[in-house]
Amino acid sequence: MTEQESIMLPSLREKENEVAMLNGDIMEQLKIVMQNSQQFQEMMMMYKCAIREVRTKAEVLNDEMSVRYHRNPISSITSRVKKPESITQKLLKKGLPFTVEAIMTNLSDVAGVRIICEFIDDIYTIAAMLAMQDDLRLIQIKDYIKYPKDNGYRSYHMIVEIPVFFSKGKTPMRVEIQIRTIAMDFWASLDHELKYKKDINPEDEEVIANELLACAERIAETDMIMQQIRMKLDAVEQHKATTEIIIDE
Ligand code: GTP
Ligand code: MG
Repeated sequence: MTEQESIMLPSLREKENEVAMLNGDIMEQLKIVMQNSQQFQEMMMMYKCAIREVRTKAEVLNDEMSVRYHRNPISSITSRVKKPESITQKLLKKGLPFTVEAIMTNLSDVAGVRIICEFIDDIYTIAAMLAMQDDLRLIQIKDYIKYPKDNGYRSYHMIVEIPVFFSKGKTPMRVEIQIRTIAMDFWASLDHELKYKKDINPEDEEVIANELLACAERIAETDMIMQQIRMKLDAVEQHKATTEIIIDE
């Protein structure tokens, strides 16, 4: 290290710390502004209502199919509205102003619904049934099951726009829907943990990422075999039902 570098480095580090603190402060301030603004609170309420609409649609489909086919295609549903600090971060990253209008026009994942299915076929059935509904506008589909991400991530993503009726009238609201199997969800939660571990050293991170990728492939294979077993069981059921009808006649 040259003398000049040894003099410069600490001051550079101090500057970086200052910037980090400043960014931290800005984030904190913005979070407070957002939480206190009436308009922001109203927007968050609207997103929560949009989530309820989507959840109800999924629950209705699940109820109908459980009566018709005697099993639940959906094993669970979770949802969340994006945290104010994550909204702020995304706006900063995209260089957008901190306004309700900018959020509503540019962010598609403030409202998120995750639908967990037992079988891969159920994912596509639920997705198709939702997409067919005429009050729901399909904005985007990302099929990370057919085209998994390089790290092994698998899930079916839809961005939809759903009308929500408030006292002042109908407002179209965007909701991100993620549909995946129980196994894919299990994998994604562990992968998510790895993403947020800041203090992990790069070698360990690489080892874990490779292990996760191998797990994702094994999970995909298992999901496929489970799907085939399900189909065989359905065929047996179908055969039994037809035989019973013939005997009854
Ligand atoms: P974001 O800016 O993160 O919202 O990504 P995007 O706009 O490119 O959308 P994409 O459909 O790729 O991802 C949306 C969401 O899917 C993310 O916010 C995560 O919840 C989830 N997701 C996407 N990729 C991964 C991944 O590799 N691992 C995990 N655990 N989740 C992921
Ligand atoms: Mg997102």
